[in-house]
Amino acid sequence: MKVLESDFALGFIRMADDGWQLGFHERNGGNLSYRIKPSEIEEVREDLTPGEWHDIGAVAGEVAGEYFMVTGSGKFFRNVALAPDEATGIIEISEDGAGYRIVWGLKNGAVPTSELPSHLLNQSVKKRVTGGKSRVIYHAHPANIIALTFILPLDDKIFTRELWEMMTECPIVFPEGVGVVPWMVPGGREIAEASSRLMEEHNAVIWAHHGLFAAGEDFNLTFGLFHTIEKAAEILLKVMNVTDKKRQTITPDDLRHLARAFNVVLPEKYLYD
Ligand code: 13P
Ligand code: ZN
Repeated sequence: MKVLESDFALGFIRMADDGWQLGFHERNGGNLSYRIKPSEIEEVREDLTPGEWHDIGAVAGEVAGEYFMVTGSGKFFRNVALAPDEATGIIEISEDGAGYRIVWGLKNGAVPTSELPSHLLNQSVKKRVTGGKSRVIYHAHPANIIALTFILPLDDKIFTRELWEMMTECPIVFPEGVGVVPWMVPGGREIAEASSRLMEEHNAVIWAHHGLFAAGEDFNLTFGLFHTIEKAAEILLKVMNVTDKKRQTITPDDLRHLARAFNVVLPEKYLYD
């Protein structure tokens, strides 16, 4: 089968286009990676042509030997659906986890996203902590979350609690809360390591003054998580536009009742008074 006939490639393209439609991707902002299942890669094997090996810039040991569909560096999400074999590609990770080679797409000399170290270290951590279930890492530049990083303290506990209070479904969608990385230079190993440490505990990590990373088992869950967090941030900003005091809100005890009713664990560190 051709890559562009496979369900995983079509799902990847749809998610990229959804992100573009919702305004998460100005210019080349954002990137997406999907850890392809062995059965899926076998289905498209006839369409793969391995290129030269390159250095990743970090060692992604847990995903050595695996294949990923990724967006290209400098590629615009608005073009993914129009020219998927130029804006995206499939890479194979070397057996030592330190190198990659392009096996499909990224035509005309394109290369994988500059955030490949963050994607692969996050993919490694999420693969380990979910027993292999997590497959998608999504990064974009959503305006409301970025705006909040100029206003709220850059603290996991404060971001988590403020976002949970904005919509009753939030604590159910991300009971493990969100992590926050202070401002750092993007595109390298240092920010990749800082993010992946937070991904041990969270499925969403905010990069101050830059954007958001979300992780999940499939395209629906990952996009849904990202969208939920960004919408909660939008509501918080609407409230803050009007007042610096909430007249009423969802209280810590309300959150405890919600957790019992929906069978989720909300860590007590987020339920401070
Ligand atoms: P790329 O075009 O290299 O994926 O970079 C976009 C981005 O969002 C960097 O953080
Ligand atoms: Zn970015």
